[in-house]
Amino acid sequence: MSLTEEIKKRRTFAIIAHPDAGKTTLTEKLLLFGGAIQTAGAVKSNKIDTATKSDWMEIEKQRGISVATSVMGFEYKGIKINLLDTPGHQDFAEDTYRTLTAVDSVIMVIDCVKGVEIQTEKLMEVCRMRNTPVICFINKLDREGRDPYDLLDEVEEKLNIQVRPLSWPIGMGKSFKGVYNLYDQKLNLFTPSQRKLSDDRKIFENLEDSELDQLIGQNPADQLREDVELIEGVYPEFDVSEYLDGKVAPVFFGSAVNNFGVNEMLDTFIQIAPAPKSRMTDVREVKPDESKFSGFVFKIHANMDPNHRNRIAFLRICSGKFERNKPYNHVGGAKPLRFSNVTQFMAQDKEIIDEAFPGDIIGLYDTGNLKIGDTLTDGENMVFTGIPSFSPEIFREVVNKDAMKTKQLEKGLKQLMEEGVAQLFTFDMGSRKVVGTVGQLQFEVIQFRLKNEYNATVEFHPMNLYKACWISSKDKKQLDEFVRSKNRHIAYDKDGKLVFMAESKAWLQMVQDNYPEIEFHFTSEF
Ligand code: G4P
Repeated sequence: MSLTEEIKKRRTFAIIAHPDAGKTTLTEKLLLFGGAIQTAGAVKSNKIDTATKSDWMEIEKQRGISVATSVMGFEYKGIKINLLDTPGHQDFAEDTYRTLTAVDSVIMVIDCVKGVEIQTEKLMEVCRMRNTPVICFINKLDREGRDPYDLLDEVEEKLNIQVRPLSWPIGMGKSFKGVYNLYDQKLNLFTPSQRKLSDDRKIFENLEDSELDQLIGQNPADQLREDVELIEGVYPEFDVSEYLDGKVAPVFFGSAVNNFGVNEMLDTFIQIAPAPKSRMTDVREVKPDESKFSGFVFKIHANMDPNHRNRIAFLRICSGKFERNKPYNHVGGAKPLRFSNVTQFMAQDKEIIDEAFPGDIIGLYDTGNLKIGDTLTDGENMVFTGIPSFSPEIFREVVNKDAMKTKQLEKGLKQLMEEGVAQLFTFDMGSRKVVGTVGQLQFEVIQFRLKNEYNATVEFHPMNLYKACWISSKDKKQLDEFVRSKNRHIAYDKDGKLVFMAESKAWLQMVQDNYPEIEFHFTSEF
C-alpha cells in the first residue's frame, strides 16, 4: 500500500468527557464494533475507584495498567482507527491536554441528564486552540434527561461552538424508542439491553411512511416528523468543511451502555473525520505524505520499577514511514537515536512493529533521552509546535529536607518534569523552586517518587499563587523594565522562559492594566 493510501485510511482521535458521562462505555462499544474485543466488560475503566481516590499509590498502579490501553488501534470497514485514551481522574487533566495535541479529531461525550459539565468546558478550550474537529455524543438517552433542544443550546453556549444534530432521539428515558439518523436518513429503533451489533436497520425513505406510525406509535411518529422538519428548518445544512475547521460540531444522540446510536456515529465518523493532517513546526508546515519520517513525543510513562529507569515515550507520527532500528535525528538532542523495541497498541495487546505511518502512535522504550515535546526526524532540524504547557492551578514550594541529596533532588525533579508529572518554576530571586500541578495528588506522587527512585526527601509548602503567566513583549526594553520592577514575582519555566507568578486574579488584572505593552499568556506557546 502506498504512503498516501496508508494515510487516507487512518483516523486518530480521542474521546473526552467529564468523569462518568460514559467515555469508557463508549470506548468499549467502539472496540466491539471494530472486532477488537469480543465481550462487553473487557475494557477496564481508567476511572479511579472512589475508595482509592486519595490513595495515589493505587492510582499509579492503575495508571501503570492503563499504559496498555493508552492507544487502542482497530480496523473498522477498512479504516484503521487509533483511539487515544485520556485519564479519567481530573488531577491528571494535563495528560489529557497533551494527548489532545496528538489527535486529529475528538468525540465528546455529554450526559443528557447533567448536560455540559466543567471538565468538558476545559477540554473544549484545548480543542479550540488547534481548531480540532469535534463530534458530540449525547449519552444516556435511556434516562429521563434534559430536553434535546435545551441540550443543544447549552452545548452552543457553554462550549462556544455551533452545533448540527445528525441524529435525533425519538423519546427519552422510558419512552426512548430510537434515533433517527439525519445524515443518511435511517431509523434505528431501540431494544433495551441490545447486545448484538447488527446492521439491520429499518430504512425509511420517507418519514411520512405510515409504517412508521405502526412501528413507534402515531404520537411519537408525528413528534419525530415535527422535530425533523424543525431541525432541517432551523439548522443550516451540515457542511463537512465547517466541521473539519472546528466551527461546527455534529451531534449524535444515543445510549452507549445499550449500544444505541453508537453505530450511527461510528459510521458517520469514518466518513467525515479527518485523516492525518499537516502539522506546523518552528520552520515550516509538514505534510503527512512527505516521504521522510517525522513525529513528536506527547506522553512519557515511567516504569513503575524503581530499579529500572525505563520509560515508554509515546510518539505521534506526522509524516513519512517510521522504521524500526533506523537512526533518527533527535532534534536538539546529543545524538541520533535508534529504537529496536517499538510497540504499537492493538486494543489490549501490544505488538512489536517494524514500521508505522502518519497518524499512528508508537511506544518507544527509552532510557531517559526523550522528553515531552521532543521531535524526531529523518534528518531535518525542526520542532513541532502546538504542544504547550498550560498554567497549573495549584502551586507549592519545594523544600529540600536533606541537604546531602541536593544533586539527587535536582535530577529527580528534572526527570519527573520531563515526564510531565508537574511543572517546575524557579524564582529569579533566591532560586526558590515551585512545583505547579492541576491536582493535589501529584504532590504525593512526586514526594514518594523522589524518595523511592532518587533517595531525595522533600516537603511541599503551600504558596499563595493564582496563575503562572508566560510573558513577552515586542518592546525588549519594556520587558526588561517589567522584570526588574516585578522581580519578586518573576520565575523561569523548565525551558528558561520568563514567567510572571500572579498571586490573585484581581492583582493580575491590575498589573495587566498597568503594563499594557506586556503580553500575558496562559500557555507556554504563543
Ligand atoms: P466515564 O468513563 O466517562 O467515567 O464513564 P463510564 O463509561 O464508566 O460510565 C459511567 C456510568 O454511566 C457507568 O455506570 C455506566 O454503566 C453508565 N452509563 C454509560 N452509558 C450509559 C447509558 O447510555 N445509559 C445509562 N443509563 N448509563 C450509562 P456505573 O454504575 O458507574 O458503573 P457500572 O457498574 O454500570 O459499570
